[in-house]
Amino acid sequence: MTFYPRVLRPLLFRLEPERAHALTLRVLQLAGAVPGALVLLRAIYRAPDRPVRIFGLNFSNPIGLAAGYDKDGLAVGGLACLGFGHLEVGTVTPEPQAGNPRPRVFRLPSDQALINRMGFPNDGAEALLEGLRRHVRRDFILGVNIGKGMATPLEGAADDYLHLLDMFYDSADYLAVNVSSPNTIGLRRLQAREALNSLLRSLADARNARIESGSLRKPLLVKLAPDLNTAELDDALDAITGNGFDGVIATNTTVDRAGLRDARRVEGGGLSGAPLRARSTAMVRDIQRMTSGRLPIIATGGVFTAADVSEKLDAGAALVQLYTGLVYRGPGLVKSILVSLASG
Ligand code: FNR
Repeated sequence: MTFYPRVLRPLLFRLEPERAHALTLRVLQLAGAVPGALVLLRAIYRAPDRPVRIFGLNFSNPIGLAAGYDKDGLAVGGLACLGFGHLEVGTVTPEPQAGNPRPRVFRLPSDQALINRMGFPNDGAEALLEGLRRHVRRDFILGVNIGKGMATPLEGAADDYLHLLDMFYDSADYLAVNVSSPNTIGLRRLQAREALNSLLRSLADARNARIESGSLRKPLLVKLAPDLNTAELDDALDAITGNGFDGVIATNTTVDRAGLRDARRVEGGGLSGAPLRARSTAMVRDIQRMTSGRLPIIATGGVFTAADVSEKLDAGAALVQLYTGLVYRGPGLVKSILVSLASG
């Protein structure tokens, strides 16, 4: 793992964060298109299996890629070779959209963190669906994270989510309902009791209709913000369990800035990485306690090491996801964590 921190990361960190990200994705996309390169990547990053069965799905290991890294599913083939048991693409919105003005992603190296206010830039649902057709046969679990369009008023949000559920129901292994990004105005208000209950009821009805017409039952998850207080979390969990949802992803990025050292802490948006770790683990623990362990949890936030993964699993998570760790630790991260878990 020394090549990345010594050589590659310094080069990438000289580029503007979003450009570095686009370049990385492009390389992984190209690797995914060249059979020899895929075989090579697979051989280099081959990691020990650590099977997990949850939501009726078989994961080869508990580590997944968090949403937002590959919003348009461009590099799924290459990313799958890095050892992930699952990949979550999106957030996808019904129509293509540009997101917020740049710059909108900031590195905080002294805090091992990122701040982003992307606002769901993506090529839209049609483009993602088309791209995913290339991965019908796959050896990893694929989640699609769905979100409301920036221009859609909150009252119309359910239509966006219903449309996306319909579009991706057959191609995704699970769907994640994103109501927790801090970068789409008003989105997080959908986590409030009545709003969430009504949204989730519509989605559950749509899934039931699918099942009645012969489709498989696909797991539906909700991704929550770490900034909910206990009462708000309790309300959200009621809506999630009450509507028969299969699990939660805890957590999205935080708007909190406590304890940061880097001067870029003043940037608006969602904070991810090391400073989010303890808070997101605490929320996993709360969810586990409040649902008596009956609601499966995917834990996300500040996972950089095997110890961080163990912390989340010990708190009650079935699976973990990471994003910022990949930026700071590089492509060998998943393998190194799985090797370390296997030997410990
Ligand atoms: C994200 N995240 C995110 N989440 C989501 O549900 N939809 C999205 O489109 C995005 N986009 C996004 C962009 C960038 C640049 C970052 C850094 C993060 C949040 C991500 O999936 C994850 O929940 C958090 O980043 C916490 O995990 P890490 O990064 O601390 O491992």
